[in-house]
Amino acid sequence: LLTRRNLLKASAVAGAYGAGMAIAGRFGLAEAAPEPRILTARRTVAQIMDAAPTRDIMTWGDEGLPPVLRMPRGKAYAARLTNSLDEPTTIHWHGLRIDNKMDGVPFMTQPYVYTNDSFDYLFTPPDAGTFWYHPHCNTLTQMGHGMTGVLVVEDPDDPVFDAEVVLNLRDWRLGGDGQFIAPFRPRDAAKAGTYGTIRTANWHQEPKYDAPAGGLIRLRIAVTDVTRIFQLRMEGADAIVIAIDGNPVPKRFPLDLLQIGPGQRLDLAVRMPDSEGAVATLEDIRGTTPKVIASLRATGQSLKRNIGDLGALAENPVPKADLSSAETIPLVLSATAENAAVESICGTLGYSFWAINKVPWPGDTPDPTAPLAELKLGKSYVFNLENVTPHTHPIHLHGMSFTVISSSTREVIPLVSDTYLIQPDEKVQLAFVADNPGDWLLHCHIIEHQKTGMTSYLRVV
Ligand code: C2O
Ligand code: CU
Repeated sequence: LLTRRNLLKASAVAGAYGAGMAIAGRFGLAEAAPEPRILTARRTVAQIMDAAPTRDIMTWGDEGLPPVLRMPRGKAYAARLTNSLDEPTTIHWHGLRIDNKMDGVPFMTQPYVYTNDSFDYLFTPPDAGTFWYHPHCNTLTQMGHGMTGVLVVEDPDDPVFDAEVVLNLRDWRLGGDGQFIAPFRPRDAAKAGTYGTIRTANWHQEPKYDAPAGGLIRLRIAVTDVTRIFQLRMEGADAIVIAIDGNPVPKRFPLDLLQIGPGQRLDLAVRMPDSEGAVATLEDIRGTTPKVIASLRATGQSLKRNIGDLGALAENPVPKADLSSAETIPLVLSATAENAAVESICGTLGYSFWAINKVPWPGDTPDPTAPLAELKLGKSYVFNLENVTPHTHPIHLHGMSFTVISSSTREVIPLVSDTYLIQPDEKVQLAFVADNPGDWLLHCHIIEHQKTGMTSYLRVV
């Protein structure tokens, strides 16, 4: 018999975590620092292509695919990064509004974690939703070789689904022998970025997952690729968008060719077909031919609810900007010819192609450029973000979430987010409250763009 209780039990990881917290509470240990989740950065071998196992994969833990980290909203979470790579690394918790010291940016918010060193992260995620984690050092190599993991912050009051499927979408730059090829081509870094050769979801090509027939599935999608922008559609099942970048959308809408870029997340509610064996397919139609990403096969029982029966997701406690007092910060994304790239501990690609407000970011240097702006803690601001390049850029702000106010080229919904996918020649207004003190990075999440100049930072004091 399928009851709400059984459904809750079915989400095994979440269930176990919840029980642990309850026991800790009963014995009065809730205040004690939580046991850290050990994340050992290491090289491994994994089967990505049939041809041969891929050497020089980089990941955390023992499983190949980085673990999906799950944690409850509003509770302290600890992770210990231990570095078994032969180069420095860190972890950035993309989209989490946490203390600056825990943000994972070496040279700016924390020390480099060198080989055999470790770093203890401790934070309390304020928002529920789908997030992700990745290094912030030598990113094109470390992320390109595997270090991109999904992070789920759970809200106990979230509506109950029949099942949940997490999809970590990314490509690999592999040759026919299954081994890594050159991570980028300079001429592509100066355009849309260099694409991978093999596409995967959860490190598999076109994986198939079982999902209860007639069930409501929560599909948590994270685009963790270093380059690729997706245009997603669902074939064979109804799918509605319930959250973008970890935040519930103000009004749900059917998934119809939504574009999401590197760094972004999309939560869908999918209503599986009722008939046993029917298949729903997630496809990317950006580019010339539609490409299957993953599919869900209907099998087994469910409550057979309608998609409209799903309860609402609670809004995250992101402060609302006061537009009447907000100060404007102009941000212009452009190409540059001025080479600012310097040798640095976290590696340089050796080129500068991009700039924010005409300044190309040199990389992690002991003598960084000045912040874009110095913001007053607690005050409201509006980014006037303008893209004068002929390419699309997913612009990511660390430490704070903004609300999309308006765009020069399209109707926008007032989404709360940490990453905005700005189109060529678009101007957009993003409002936020500078409520988190520290130096916060702002950069394009196409990693070649990030590493060749399209990075800067804000200072909140
Ligand atoms: Cu996804 Cu600077 O980060
Ligand atoms: Cu970019």
